[in-house]
Amino acid sequence: MKKSPTIAFFETTADDRSYYTAQMKNMGDLYFTNLAIQDDIEVDLGQVEILSIHVASDLNSEIIKRMPRLKLIATRATGFNNIDCTTAKHHAITICNVPGYGSNVVAEYAFMLLLALCRKLIPGLNQMKSGNINHVTLTGTDLHGKTIGIIGTGSIGSHVGRIANGFGMKVLAFDPYPNHTLEYDLNLSYVSLAQLCEDSDIITLHAPYTKENHHIIDSRMLGKMKKGAYLINTARGELIDSKALVAVLASGKLAGAALDVFEGESIFKIDEEIELLSGPRNRNYDYALENLVLEKMPNVILSPHNAFNSKEAIRLVQNITLDNIKKYLDNGPQNVVAI
Ligand code: NAI
Repeated sequence: MKKSPTIAFFETTADDRSYYTAQMKNMGDLYFTNLAIQDDIEVDLGQVEILSIHVASDLNSEIIKRMPRLKLIATRATGFNNIDCTTAKHHAITICNVPGYGSNVVAEYAFMLLLALCRKLIPGLNQMKSGNINHVTLTGTDLHGKTIGIIGTGSIGSHVGRIANGFGMKVLAFDPYPNHTLEYDLNLSYVSLAQLCEDSDIITLHAPYTKENHHIIDSRMLGKMKKGAYLINTARGELIDSKALVAVLASGKLAGAALDVFEGESIFKIDEEIELLSGPRNRNYDYALENLVLEKMPNVILSPHNAFNSKEAIRLVQNITLDNIKKYLDNGPQNVVAI
């Protein structure tokens, strides 16, 4: 028989399950699965009143409509681009997120990727393993004295600026809602997106994905970038036109890219790729091919949407999500996303 919970958690770990079970005694009939909502065939969503998901759940209109009693979506992430907010709004469903938790965890990860890229860490490790070491092929680039361009200066982007200061970098930024205190605190200069692309040695994305931000880095912006620039994306894959990125990397114009998020990352699993082969050719087919090409490029690092993943950040997300649910039940919802 299918399970019919009132509070359902998807994409959970064993640690999530023990945390929420201990903290939510008598709050409802709890359900936990490690699966994303669209992959779970064990659950009957009909009774669900509170839903908690992470980034791999595709909360489209069809799935939302299968939950007529749903009142609250508590995503355990900052980004909520995987939720059909229009349908949720239409059904008077509140959406809460976890803002700001990523400021250091994601900023540190972005710098880890950047250093690995600039200092050719992955080829160096591979050479160590093979015993075939050639320092000439491992010459890197310093960060000191370079210009970093930060796209989006919210919680994460501003912390990236702080770290960049520590490395002795010049900091440029683009944000449609500039935070002018950062200009003083971080010696940062706001410029247009086009100028940021033209003048930066390293470009790093920290903006949310929205319809308006689709492919903000397109072939035009990639074309403006300096020869030898590096591109880092730990925000959302759909901010960059991946087809155009493949072309510009293949041309040798960019020195490299490190992507913790990329278009089509949800189909980056072997069973889904095999399924694609038996269906009609569609955009996912192209994503799979583009990602295969990116993975093979020696100057590209792909990582599995893992920037959020530190012990400290996970506990913070658990605490804030629990608080979001409790405050909602106490009629004082917090961290409600504006839609
Ligand atoms: P935030 O809301 O504090 O800051 C986002 C900033 O981007 C805001 O200042 C906003 O004005 C700006 N922005 C919006 N549209 C823009 C555009 N077109 N160009 C430039 N700036 C723009 O969000 P936070 O906490 O800094 O997170 C940023 C994003 O990072 C999230 O939306 C999420 O997608 C991603 N993220 C990724 C994680 C991972 O594991 N890879 C983990 C956590 C967040």
